[in-house]
Amino acid sequence: MSSFNPPIRTLMGPGPADIHPRVLQALSRPIIGHLDPAFQQMMEQLKTLLRQALMTNNDITFPISAPGSAGMESCFANLMEAGDKVIICRNGVFGARMQQNVERMGGIAIMVDDPWGEAIDPDKLRDALKQHPDANLVAMVHAETSTGAISDVETLVAIAHEHDCLTIVDAVTSLGGSPLKVDEWGIDALYSGSQKCLSCVPGLSPVTFNQAALDRVTARKTPVQSWFLDLNLVLGYWQGDGGRSYHHTAPINALYALHESLTMLMEEGLENAWARHQQHHQALRAGLEAMGLKFQVAQAQRLPQLNAVMIPDGVNDGEVRAELLNHFGLEIGAGLGAGAGKVWRIGLMGYSSRRQNVLTCLAGLETVLGRLGVIETGVALNAADKAYSDN
Ligand SMILES: Cc1ncc(COP(=O)(O)O)c(C=O)c1O
Repeated sequence: MSSFNPPIRTLMGPGPADIHPRVLQALSRPIIGHLDPAFQQMMEQLKTLLRQALMTNNDITFPISAPGSAGMESCFANLMEAGDKVIICRNGVFGARMQQNVERMGGIAIMVDDPWGEAIDPDKLRDALKQHPDANLVAMVHAETSTGAISDVETLVAIAHEHDCLTIVDAVTSLGGSPLKVDEWGIDALYSGSQKCLSCVPGLSPVTFNQAALDRVTARKTPVQSWFLDLNLVLGYWQGDGGRSYHHTAPINALYALHESLTMLMEEGLENAWARHQQHHQALRAGLEAMGLKFQVAQAQRLPQLNAVMIPDGVNDGEVRAELLNHFGLEIGAGLGAGAGKVWRIGLMGYSSRRQNVLTCLAGLETVLGRLGVIETGVALNAADKAYSDN
């Protein structure tokens, strides 16, 4: 056995995204104790940076030491109790995971379904809330990574509040890539992930809870069924009013990395980061459409950071992705769930959202699909180049 040296790849799938060298450097800084005063100072800065990135003043804003799935579980575990009725808007894979969380925790999940590849329909949520006046929680995915559709969270949260429901929002793929305004939109609880538009290492889940959500936690009749995710316990470490106490050993170096990626996001500016994701999406789109490829999601509901592209008839999904990986060092994503074998998911997330990646991806697809005779060749790079000059 010898050291593991991974190949160099360009990551343009649904996440993880490429990591900026500054973030990789931050990871390799010397470890210090997770209760060291210097580390605690870094934790405070990290919370401030996260509040800025999430556009919230919520005191309770911190990264859970586990991936986005743990952020999801934490929101449900803390905000619901067995027997609670939860309305879940499902327009892809991640809404379905929410259902599993609710049901495993003894809740009643009321599913409001929209077609995969479309945004959540606010009218359907309204109808479900009228039919289930006893529901007390509404959950939704802002940016559905399985399809590339974005939903109007501001409107959906307002509807939930008209019916006295708290809201849980999945912002794993939206944070850093699309406008996300926790306080302005009135979101009660939200979780995200580190490995998408924050371009950090996987394995951390930023979460935020507003006062209404905390009041729900305080008023619980039963203890939170997960020891690790119980806010009452984990906040003893992250909030530390009156002294921080050991809860678990924090992933110290990964938190340095998150601090660095958020610092970079703030240096760039949130609005500039959102605009960058749009700019590279438009160039990729111009190139893909010039080749004759089609998107799964209508333009108005399309995420710039996750481009679901229809696989041309007769093309073998796995063979194309393998060739891109082996000859171009490029990873694009396979379809997930109902999209498996039908779409490719091309990510432009965080540090992956740059011109070099867009051009590599177009060149790779044009070469491989051109040989198969299923697209127009010799046009994609010029179309992308023109999109860059026009914007
Ligand atoms: C929308 C969405 N929610 C939740 C998750 C789960 O995050 P993780 O894989 O970090 O556990 C993902 C991951 O791709 C996601 O895209």
